[in-house]
Amino acid sequence: MKDFNFYAPTRVVFGRESEEKLPQLIKQYGGAKVLVHFGGGSARKSGLLDKVEKMLGEAGIAYVELGGVVPNPLLSKVREGIELCRREHVDFILAVGGGSVIDSAKAIGYGVGYEGDVWDFWDGKAVPQACLPIGVMLTIPAAGSEMSSSCVITNDEGMLKRGVNSDLCRCRFAIMNPERTYTLPPYQTAAGATDIMMHTMERYFSKYEDAVLTDAIAEALLRTVKDATPEVLRRPDDYKHRAAIMWASSLSHNDLTECGTEKDFACHKLEHELSGMFGVTHGAGLAAIWGSWARYVMDRHVSRFAKFAVDVMGVTQDFTDPKATALKGIEAMEAFFVSIGMPVSIPELVGRRITAEEIKALVEKCSRGGKMNIGAMEVLKPEDMTAIYEKANA
Ligand code: NZQ
Ligand code: ZN
Repeated sequence: MKDFNFYAPTRVVFGRESEEKLPQLIKQYGGAKVLVHFGGGSARKSGLLDKVEKMLGEAGIAYVELGGVVPNPLLSKVREGIELCRREHVDFILAVGGGSVIDSAKAIGYGVGYEGDVWDFWDGKAVPQACLPIGVMLTIPAAGSEMSSSCVITNDEGMLKRGVNSDLCRCRFAIMNPERTYTLPPYQTAAGATDIMMHTMERYFSKYEDAVLTDAIAEALLRTVKDATPEVLRRPDDYKHRAAIMWASSLSHNDLTECGTEKDFACHKLEHELSGMFGVTHGAGLAAIWGSWARYVMDRHVSRFAKFAVDVMGVTQDFTDPKATALKGIEAMEAFFVSIGMPVSIPELVGRRITAEEIKALVEKCSRGGKMNIGAMEVLKPEDMTAIYEKANA
């Protein structure tokens, strides 16, 4: 079991009545002038933004607004936000939305007090030294950004998608009302569930196989999301299962399922290049790549894949042939992705086979020009990345 240092400072305010706590929470965390940051319209349509404006107005909290964050959030919007915050002397950012809005808020938070170009943080030229305090009203359980230390931004020039990790950007609070997720389209619900499961699996598939409590938590989380997702696809206003998925979203990416294991995140790195280049939904991209990654690395980690097959996917253990058990687990996971409407190959994800040149460009970006490997349980070199993309593209 790996030594660990677990830090999860975000206050979670969960449930049907949670939204009412907003003004009090902003005041508690020192917000006097707030940037209300949001996406493309869902929060307005649902009435959530109107409610936020009313609550802030009644509480006498000054605010400015910036909407228009797109999925796979863009650096250009971050720059706009930084300018606005400086001009308006904003001291607190409220993200109303999902991972894209939260990450855009985090990036703005990093940039406001930084004198250089904010992209320096993603380019490896600087390390964040400060971040404005951030609060969240979560509308889609998926990225887990509401409790994570991560911030993923796409640079519009070159469509480079990159992540930066720092505890400085961890949200002060996250308000989570599962009822707000009833309006999610099925595809976003399913992609969100996939992302949640993948955040857990990227820590579960680890060379540290003796973190027994962490394994048990991870397996329970995976089974919960696997069982709840078909329920909410059938009945979007199923509070019990929406709530289970929403809580799983935070627990899957606040490092709880990493205590004693380690991050692999190879599938995430491979996927970020796909969503950066083709603008696809992150969770769907993960579903498209996972099976190819799993088959590529499985031979050297049979016992881990067999445990996953039995304890998560409900496969019957074949004691004479652990490899067959492991393989059945991968097949069962892919069948689950298909059952919730997720793609399990690149052609299904982007609508066509991608070209050899495009694969070359993906690998070039993912390996930072051939200089970087990815993964931890299995370290992947550029040639391995090529093989996995090719397998997923078959
Ligand atoms: O823009 P609006 O109109 O709000 O629509 C959004 C968007 O189109 C819609 N939506 C959100 N809540 C809704 C809703 N529609 C109806 N009803 C609601 N209640 O859903 C769409 C997707 O939203 P987005 O925020 O993009 O989703 P998600 O939370 O999956 O975030 C994806 C981004 O997070 C990054 C991904 O790479 C991607 O850029 N990630 C961030 C991580 C982190 N910071 O820790 C970790 C993840 O692995 C991931 O990389
Ligand atoms: Zn993810």
